[in-house]
Amino acid sequence: MNKTAVIFDLDGVIVDTAKYHYLAWKKLANKLGFDFTHEQNELLKGVSRVKSLEILLNIGDVSLSQQEKQQYMHEKNEHYLSFITQMNESEMLPNMMTILKFLKEKGIAIALGSASKNAKLILDTLQITQYFDEIIDGNEVSKAKPDPEVFILAAHRLNKKPEECIVVEDAAAGIDAANAANMLCIGIGEKEILKEATYVFKSTSELTTEFLDKLIKK
Ligand code: BG6
Ligand code: MG
Repeated sequence: MNKTAVIFDLDGVIVDTAKYHYLAWKKLANKLGFDFTHEQNELLKGVSRVKSLEILLNIGDVSLSQQEKQQYMHEKNEHYLSFITQMNESEMLPNMMTILKFLKEKGIAIALGSASKNAKLILDTLQITQYFDEIIDGNEVSKAKPDPEVFILAAHRLNKKPEECIVVEDAAAGIDAANAANMLCIGIGEKEILKEATYVFKSTSELTTEFLDKLIKK
Protein backbone atom coordinates (compact mmCIF):
# COMPACT_ATOMS: atom_id res chain seq x y z
CA MET A 1 0.00 0.00 0.00
CA ASN A 2 1.22 3.53 -0.80
CA LYS A 3 2.77 5.39 2.08
CA THR A 4 0.96 8.66 2.68
CA ALA A 5 2.00 9.57 6.22
CA VAL A 6 5.13 9.76 8.35
CA ILE A 7 5.00 9.62 12.15
CA PHE A 8 8.12 10.95 13.83
CA ASP A 9 9.36 10.27 17.31
CA LEU A 10 10.79 13.48 18.80
CA ASP A 11 13.69 12.93 21.20
CA GLY A 12 16.62 11.42 19.29
CA VAL A 13 14.93 11.71 15.90
CA ILE A 14 14.08 15.37 15.38
CA VAL A 15 16.18 16.87 18.14
CA ASP A 16 19.12 15.79 20.24
CA THR A 17 17.51 16.10 23.66
CA ALA A 18 18.92 12.81 25.03
CA LYS A 19 21.96 14.68 26.36
CA TYR A 20 19.74 17.01 28.40
CA HIS A 21 17.60 14.18 29.76
CA TYR A 22 20.88 12.52 30.72
CA LEU A 23 22.29 15.57 32.53
CA ALA A 24 19.05 16.07 34.43
CA TRP A 25 18.73 12.41 35.50
CA LYS A 26 22.44 12.31 36.38
CA LYS A 27 22.06 15.31 38.67
CA LEU A 28 19.21 13.56 40.45
CA ALA A 29 21.17 10.30 40.73
CA ASN A 30 24.14 12.16 42.23
CA LYS A 31 21.84 13.89 44.69
CA LEU A 32 20.53 10.48 45.73
CA GLY A 33 24.11 9.31 46.20
CA PHE A 34 24.95 7.22 43.13
CA ASP A 35 26.38 7.67 39.63
CA PHE A 36 24.55 7.33 36.34
CA THR A 37 26.50 6.52 33.18
CA HIS A 38 25.92 7.18 29.47
CA GLU A 39 25.46 3.44 28.95
CA GLN A 40 22.75 3.31 31.60
CA ASN A 41 21.08 6.30 29.94
CA GLU A 42 20.33 4.06 26.91
CA LEU A 43 17.78 2.29 29.10
CA LEU A 44 15.75 5.49 29.40
CA LYS A 45 15.41 6.23 25.69
CA GLY A 46 11.79 6.28 24.60
CA VAL A 47 10.69 5.50 28.14
CA SER A 48 8.15 7.71 29.97
CA ARG A 49 9.19 10.02 32.80
CA VAL A 50 7.65 7.83 35.52
CA LYS A 51 9.21 4.66 34.10
CA SER A 52 12.57 6.44 33.73
CA LEU A 53 12.56 7.32 37.42
CA GLU A 54 11.77 3.70 38.33
CA ILE A 55 14.70 2.48 36.21
CA LEU A 56 17.01 5.10 37.75
CA LEU A 57 16.01 4.17 41.31
CA ASN A 58 16.59 0.51 40.47
CA ILE A 59 20.09 1.32 39.25
CA GLY A 60 20.87 3.15 42.49
CA ASP A 61 18.97 0.64 44.61
CA VAL A 62 17.05 3.50 46.20
CA SER A 63 13.42 3.38 47.31
CA LEU A 64 11.28 6.49 47.71
CA SER A 65 7.75 7.32 48.84
CA GLN A 66 5.17 8.33 46.22
CA GLN A 67 5.47 11.93 47.39
CA GLU A 68 9.25 11.93 47.04
CA LYS A 69 8.96 10.41 43.58
CA GLN A 70 6.64 13.22 42.47
CA GLN A 71 8.99 15.81 43.96
CA TYR A 72 12.09 14.37 42.26
CA MET A 73 10.34 14.01 38.89
CA HIS A 74 9.33 17.64 39.17
CA GLU A 75 12.89 18.67 39.99
CA LYS A 76 14.30 16.62 37.12
CA ASN A 77 11.84 18.20 34.73
CA GLU A 78 12.58 21.75 35.91
CA HIS A 79 16.28 21.11 35.31
CA TYR A 80 15.54 19.58 31.89
CA LEU A 81 13.35 22.57 30.99
CA SER A 82 16.17 24.95 31.84
CA PHE A 83 18.13 23.34 28.98
CA ILE A 84 15.41 22.90 26.39
CA THR A 85 14.02 26.40 26.68
CA GLN A 86 17.47 27.62 25.54
CA MET A 87 17.45 25.44 22.41
CA ASN A 88 17.20 26.67 18.87
CA GLU A 89 16.90 25.24 15.38
CA SER A 90 20.63 24.43 15.31
CA GLU A 91 19.97 21.55 17.72
CA MET A 92 17.72 19.78 15.27
CA LEU A 93 19.32 16.57 14.06
CA PRO A 94 20.95 16.60 10.59
CA ASN A 95 18.58 16.63 7.60
CA MET A 96 15.41 16.79 9.68
CA MET A 97 14.42 20.29 8.61
CA THR A 98 14.96 19.33 4.95
CA ILE A 99 12.92 16.15 5.43
CA LEU A 100 10.00 17.98 7.05
CA LYS A 101 9.95 20.53 4.21
CA PHE A 102 10.23 17.79 1.60
CA LEU A 103 7.32 15.77 3.02
CA LYS A 104 5.18 18.89 3.31
CA GLU A 105 5.83 19.78 -0.33
CA LYS A 106 4.96 16.21 -1.36
CA GLY A 107 1.64 16.43 0.48
CA ILE A 108 2.59 13.61 2.87
CA ALA A 109 0.79 13.82 6.22
CA ILE A 110 3.11 14.38 9.19
CA ALA A 111 2.50 13.47 12.82
CA LEU A 112 4.49 13.43 16.01
CA GLY A 113 4.32 10.31 18.18
CA SER A 114 6.29 11.02 21.34
CA ALA A 115 6.34 9.87 24.95
CA SER A 116 7.38 13.34 26.08
CA LYS A 117 5.06 15.65 27.98
CA ASN A 118 7.30 18.50 26.82
CA ALA A 119 6.86 17.73 23.11
CA LYS A 120 4.73 20.77 22.20
CA LEU A 121 7.09 23.11 24.01
CA ILE A 122 10.06 21.66 22.13
CA LEU A 123 8.36 21.94 18.73
CA ASP A 124 7.41 25.54 19.53
CA THR A 125 10.92 26.37 20.73
CA LEU A 126 12.34 24.99 17.47
CA GLN A 127 9.58 26.81 15.55
CA ILE A 128 8.53 23.70 13.63
CA THR A 129 5.02 23.12 15.03
CA GLN A 130 3.46 24.16 11.71
CA TYR A 131 4.90 21.10 9.95
CA PHE A 132 2.83 18.69 12.03
CA ASP A 133 -0.72 17.82 11.08
CA GLU A 134 -1.18 15.95 14.36
CA ILE A 135 0.79 15.90 17.60
CA ILE A 136 0.39 12.94 19.95
CA ASP A 137 2.53 13.29 23.08
CA GLY A 138 2.95 11.92 26.58
CA ASN A 139 -0.05 13.89 27.82
CA GLU A 140 -2.38 11.96 25.54
CA VAL A 141 -1.36 8.34 25.76
CA SER A 142 -1.98 6.06 28.69
CA LYS A 143 0.17 3.17 27.52
CA ALA A 144 3.85 3.85 26.90
CA LYS A 145 5.91 2.43 24.01
CA PRO A 146 6.37 -0.52 23.24
CA ASP A 147 2.59 -0.37 23.34
CA PRO A 148 1.44 0.82 19.89
CA GLU A 149 -1.18 3.26 21.30
CA VAL A 150 0.73 6.44 20.38
CA PHE A 151 1.18 5.44 16.72
CA ILE A 152 -2.31 3.98 16.32
CA LEU A 153 -3.78 7.21 17.70
CA ALA A 154 -1.61 9.28 15.36
CA ALA A 155 -2.74 7.28 12.30
CA HIS A 156 -6.35 7.52 13.42
CA ARG A 157 -6.13 11.32 13.82
CA LEU A 158 -4.52 11.61 10.38
CA ASN A 159 -7.29 9.42 9.00
CA LYS A 160 -4.76 6.91 7.69
CA LYS A 161 -4.52 3.13 7.81
CA PRO A 162 -1.47 1.73 9.66
CA GLU A 163 -0.21 0.28 6.35
CA GLU A 164 -0.03 3.81 4.94
CA CYS A 165 2.26 5.05 7.72
CA ILE A 166 6.03 5.14 8.11
CA VAL A 167 7.42 5.53 11.65
CA VAL A 168 10.85 7.06 12.37
CA GLU A 169 12.23 6.01 15.78
CA ASP A 170 15.51 5.87 17.71
CA ALA A 171 14.44 3.64 20.61
CA ALA A 172 14.00 -0.13 20.61
CA ALA A 173 10.72 0.32 22.51
CA GLY A 174 9.51 2.64 19.73
CA ILE A 175 10.44 0.16 17.00
CA ASP A 176 8.48 -2.54 18.83
CA ALA A 177 5.53 -0.14 19.13
CA ALA A 178 5.63 0.59 15.37
CA ASN A 179 5.79 -3.12 14.53
CA ALA A 180 2.90 -3.82 16.88
CA ALA A 181 0.96 -1.06 15.10
CA ASN A 182 1.72 -2.79 11.78
CA MET A 183 3.65 0.18 10.40
CA LEU A 184 6.86 0.27 8.39
CA CYS A 185 9.61 1.47 10.67
CA ILE A 186 12.88 3.33 10.12
CA GLY A 187 15.34 3.10 13.01
CA ILE A 188 17.91 5.78 13.74
CA GLY A 189 20.88 4.37 15.66
CA GLU A 190 22.75 1.10 16.07
CA LYS A 191 21.62 -1.91 14.00
CA GLU A 192 22.25 -4.27 16.93
CA ILE A 193 19.88 -2.31 19.16
CA LEU A 194 17.25 -1.55 16.51
CA LYS A 195 17.30 -4.94 14.80
CA GLU A 196 13.50 -5.17 14.58
CA ALA A 197 13.25 -2.07 12.36
CA THR A 198 12.54 -2.43 8.62
CA TYR A 199 15.47 -0.11 7.82
CA VAL A 200 18.19 1.28 10.09
CA PHE A 201 20.39 4.35 9.60
CA LYS A 202 23.20 5.21 11.95
CA SER A 203 22.26 8.87 11.98
CA THR A 204 19.60 11.14 10.48
CA SER A 205 22.33 12.44 8.17
CA GLU A 206 22.03 9.11 6.34
CA LEU A 207 18.26 9.34 6.04
CA THR A 208 17.85 11.15 2.74
CA THR A 209 14.86 12.63 0.94
CA GLU A 210 15.75 10.36 -2.02
CA PHE A 211 15.33 7.29 0.18
CA LEU A 212 12.02 8.55 1.57
CA ASP A 213 10.82 9.40 -1.93
CA LYS A 214 11.47 5.83 -3.10
CA LEU A 215 9.75 4.42 -0.04
CA ILE A 216 6.69 6.59 -0.61
CA LYS A 217 6.42 5.55 -4.26
CA LYS A 218 6.86 1.82 -3.56
C1 BG6 B 1 11.00 10.28 25.37
C2 BG6 B 1 12.47 10.26 25.71
O1 BG6 B 1 10.82 10.82 24.09
O2 BG6 B 1 10.28 11.08 26.31
C3 BG6 B 1 12.67 9.78 27.14
O3 BG6 B 1 13.16 9.41 24.83
C4 BG6 B 1 11.83 10.64 28.08
O4 BG6 B 1 14.03 9.82 27.47
C5 BG6 B 1 10.38 10.63 27.67
O5 BG6 B 1 11.96 10.16 29.42
C6 BG6 B 1 9.49 11.50 28.55
O6 BG6 B 1 9.88 12.82 28.40
P1 BG6 B 1 9.39 14.04 29.28
O7 BG6 B 1 9.83 15.23 28.49
O8 BG6 B 1 7.89 13.94 29.38
O9 BG6 B 1 10.03 13.92 30.61
MG1 MG C 1 13.27 8.86 20.89
